[in-house]
Amino acid sequence: MSLRLSSLLLLLCLFSTAKFSTAQTYGRNGMVVSTSSVASETGRDILKKGGNAVDGAVATAFALAVTHPSAGNIGGGGFLVYMDANGEATTFDFREKAPLKATNDMFLDENGDLIENSNHFSAKAIGVPGTVAGLYKAHSKYGKLPWKEVVQPAIDLATNGFIMNWSLYNAAKYFESKPTEYPMMQDFFNNHSNAIVEPGGVWRQPELGKTLSIIRDKGHNGFYKGEVAKKLAAFMKENGGIITEKDLAKYEAIERKPVVGTYKDYQICAMPPPSSGGVTLISMMNMMEQVNFDTLEFNSTPYVHFVAESMRRAYANRAKHLGDPDFNPDMPIDFLLDKALAKELVADIDMTKATKSDSSNFGQMPEGDNTTHLSVMDKDGNAVSLTYTLEYAYGSGMVDKELGFIFNNEMGDFNPKPGVTTSTGQIGTKPNLIEPEKRMLSSMTPVIVAKDGKPYLVIGSPGGRTIINTVFQTVLNVLEFEMEIDNAIEAMKIHHQWLPDRIMYEELLMSPDTREALKSMGHDLRGISRLGQLMGIIYEDGIFKGASDSSSGEGAAVGY
Ligand code: GLY
Repeated sequence: MSLRLSSLLLLLCLFSTAKFSTAQTYGRNGMVVSTSSVASETGRDILKKGGNAVDGAVATAFALAVTHPSAGNIGGGGFLVYMDANGEATTFDFREKAPLKATNDMFLDENGDLIENSNHFSAKAIGVPGTVAGLYKAHSKYGKLPWKEVVQPAIDLATNGFIMNWSLYNAAKYFESKPTEYPMMQDFFNNHSNAIVEPGGVWRQPELGKTLSIIRDKGHNGFYKGEVAKKLAAFMKENGGIITEKDLAKYEAIERKPVVGTYKDYQICAMPPPSSGGVTLISMMNMMEQVNFDTLEFNSTPYVHFVAESMRRAYANRAKHLGDPDFNPDMPIDFLLDKALAKELVADIDMTKATKSDSSNFGQMPEGDNTTHLSVMDKDGNAVSLTYTLEYAYGSGMVDKELGFIFNNEMGDFNPKPGVTTSTGQIGTKPNLIEPEKRMLSSMTPVIVAKDGKPYLVIGSPGGRTIINTVFQTVLNVLEFEMEIDNAIEAMKIHHQWLPDRIMYEELLMSPDTREALKSMGHDLRGISRLGQLMGIIYEDGIFKGASDSSSGEGAAVGY
């Protein structure tokens, strides 16, 4: 692992705290949950003004681009799942795309080796951003309040500022200590002075405010054409990037049919490819449906073993089959979602010992684990589950000073080396190789579960490839074990992604006995302080119950 990457991971750990407890909050008229209390309040205020769930989600997402710049963004991309109060669902795909000039060997040297860090820390690592297009498209179709009204609060937050918090301050100090690696982040957290704004002070981002004003006034075209697009393309040219005005002009968000599954009496509605999240989560829920829970006690050793083995199988299929549907029309989605496949996969699980993941065919690339999720429900019971990202925390660390926002490094989510695969983490399979205008495969897993045909659970998380598993276990905790949303979020989680062949577990929450028993079954274990940062809502009997993961220090579930 490169020094830079390990420092970044250390930074992520600094931001993380172990999960202990979080309190759920209640509302009768709506609920917004995000990783920034300021952004959640922004969304709540939009609901109070008569906005619906889409208005609230769009306002919260723009606010997060100001208050949570490690992942909240207008320079990245993501996915939105929408379900109306009657259970009708749709999704919006605003994943970044490879630029027109991208090639499948663009990150390789003349010997065919991956140039270290090139697919994460260079202007070429930046994918064509999709966030503004996605928020605009979803709002045009389902929003109720005027676009200007839902964008304005973010402009106010950027221009007038908001209180600097400890997370942001720590990030600022980290970047300050790395001037060579992050030259463009050096004065990002200053108010045009030489000093980082102190915690408790007011941090202003007037350039971002100006860019957001153009987006407020011109909508989609405010970002993808004209002044902003010109500046963005000039920035790329100056820094060795390949995104051009043509790439921006061609970018469109896509409304896609959700992937839908069932778990007992519940309907699970999730994001289709280019997210791998929905298909993989439903396939694991299908495996769990085979279980007799009278004989498998929650979080016992056999339970953790079974869950890990289900993950192993679902993630192997994920790596083998999934990519951008527009470039992979023959992906076997129906086969992967079939309950008959789940039966077969479960039949192959040995309850006395760990299976070995076979790395001889292909492996998987590590993914960044900084992304953010927001869940919103309005008074009528409409729901939005939205996850978006810059890939790594603060993306590529590249910022256009005049535009005031950070660019993603999402090109790192493609398989960089055609045909070459290793057990330690590189994949070369075709569905996710780089091609011009292709969307890179994602693990983001925004989910809405319906009960009796109406939105019941809205949930999602950051966490790179761990996202699917943390969301999966939280959904299972609610549907199978009838946990309240706060308990479901805080309960011990594990992660297995087929390769590397090991279980990651929340070390403060798994008992030493379970650890030892799993090891003796042949599992390799790695402790981690936390998995995910879940933001969820349960809607039951006319009450919205929300909870923000305690691992998100600044997060809040805000109801009214
Ligand atoms: N960049 C993280 C993801 O899309 O899964």
